[in-house]
Amino acid sequence: MKGVILAGGLATRLRPLTWVTNKHLLPIYNKPMIYYPLESLVKAGIKEILISTSPDHAGQFANLLKSGDEFGVKLYYSVQENPKGGIANAIGLAEEFAKGEKITVVLGDNIFNYDLKSTIEKFKQKEKGAMVFGIRMLGMESKHYGVIEIDKSGRVISVEEKPENPKSNIAQTGIYIYDERVFNFIKKQKTSNRGELEVTDLNNFYLKEGSLECALLDWWIDAGTSHDELLRANNLVAEKVKTGQL
Ligand code: G1P
Repeated sequence: MKGVILAGGLATRLRPLTWVTNKHLLPIYNKPMIYYPLESLVKAGIKEILISTSPDHAGQFANLLKSGDEFGVKLYYSVQENPKGGIANAIGLAEEFAKGEKITVVLGDNIFNYDLKSTIEKFKQKEKGAMVFGIRMLGMESKHYGVIEIDKSGRVISVEEKPENPKSNIAQTGIYIYDERVFNFIKKQKTSNRGELEVTDLNNFYLKEGSLECALLDWWIDAGTSHDELLRANNLVAEKVKTGQL
């Protein structure tokens, strides 16, 4: 299993902060944001991790994280030239790095405390499939995300990108696990109305063949959506760190 952290994009919503640096290098309590997803992958036992970032800031990531020695892993860097390509486009750039292995993908602004290690161990035994990680939201808040519908037994019934009428309150987070075929599916994708290769469309290839699974998280923050969310993430993470929950 290899790891991929997506840390590109323009993050226009966080300007003027993101004139200074890449969103994923902004501070969250006592560390740059990217440390949190990186440490989650390290804790999950992943030894080789690709950090995909924007051309302007790639050097800053390398200066900060270097070879990965400090984390006990090997880090690789790649540059996404088209920041508006979408999540699936960015995942597609990891094909050479993956070298036919399964991958765990995390968005660089996603902070969570979940035992990915045992999930990944189980996933490795599977012949094929993909996993999404959902979180229950209040009311209709899920409509701002991909929305995952599951039945009573936890089987995934649908995944829709930001639907007007969400079929459930489960939002799709930015954590995904894919088998080796993911790159073939990405090559079959078409751009969405917003001009991106959507991760939700990618996940629907797996759903159609009945191999998409969903795990539910108890706690998760998408730290990079607005100034208010950034502030909220700082406060929440500070509290979690001080109480030993993160
Ligand atoms: C993306 C995905 C969406 C997912 C979200 C998680 O949304 O398209 O399905 O729920 O990340 O943060 P975006 O941030 O591109 O609007």
